[in-house]
Amino acid sequence: MSKRVRKAVLPVAGMGTRVLPGAKTTPKNLLNVVDRPILSYVVEEARAAGIEHFVFIVGRGQGAIEDYFDTNPEVENALEAKGKADILADVRRDLGKPGEMSFIRQMAPLGLGHAVWCAREVIGDEPFAVMLPDMLMAAERPALAQAVDAYNKVGGNIIAVEPAPEGETYKYGIVALEAQNGRLNRMTGMVEKPPLGTEPSNLFISGRYILQPEIFQILGTQPRGAGGEIQLTDAMATLMTRQDFHALEYEGTTYDCGDKIGLLRANVAFALARPDLADEARAAIKALL
Ligand code: G1P
Repeated sequence: MSKRVRKAVLPVAGMGTRVLPGAKTTPKNLLNVVDRPILSYVVEEARAAGIEHFVFIVGRGQGAIEDYFDTNPEVENALEAKGKADILADVRRDLGKPGEMSFIRQMAPLGLGHAVWCAREVIGDEPFAVMLPDMLMAAERPALAQAVDAYNKVGGNIIAVEPAPEGETYKYGIVALEAQNGRLNRMTGMVEKPPLGTEPSNLFISGRYILQPEIFQILGTQPRGAGGEIQLTDAMATLMTRQDFHALEYEGTTYDCGDKIGLLRANVAFALARPDLADEARAAIKALL
């Protein structure tokens, strides 16, 4: 039986270049989708997969993330005094339990691999999840839970993938499969941001991973790769020479909220999926069209 996945690393330090200036003073993962920040959905997804400890890798000026998961007596007391019980419940629903969240400063924007490496002491010697919170995943069975199911089946390392839109493979990490049978397949390779025409498949790494702790030793000496950054994909490719990696084509829809149109799509889709808002949202969208 494989060790249980209890901890998740959420690298949130990015500048949010594609959603500036909105992300200048509000960390991009605190931008709203309908009425909750992106991070709120991702933490909920993690909880549904059994995650008990959250390790946020943050940058300077992102104290608002810690504040979001902490109590705010001023807001809560005011809501209580006004009898706004439903909003109060919504506000409280996201609060971290004491000791459940760690916040680590990345200090320098050296890449995703470096961000994950920053979590090594808090993760220790156990398998863990990595969640790229820009990528909001709507699924009946939450995406990370699907990855954990796959891990419980085959062990090793699991990477969630999905088909990239035509001509966009160069933007992502791309995987190579031994054979494609069903949704869970053994991998034979991966490459970060391959030039167009050299991609080993059209399946891109979409932002949910289950990794073994041996990745940290590799990350510790990982040279810079694509874009001059320390790439998680390169370290995983090295780990793959020693351990199994499976790619999971999860069932659901991904919204890239680090992107203007992706964020817009998420807002529309999540509003339409909300029983309390669907009718009004549909009418408002229709009127605009
Ligand atoms: C990162 C990963 C890449 C992955 C992508 C998903 O790239 O390095 O493998 O496909 O996230 O969004 P970034 O978007 O940080 O350039």
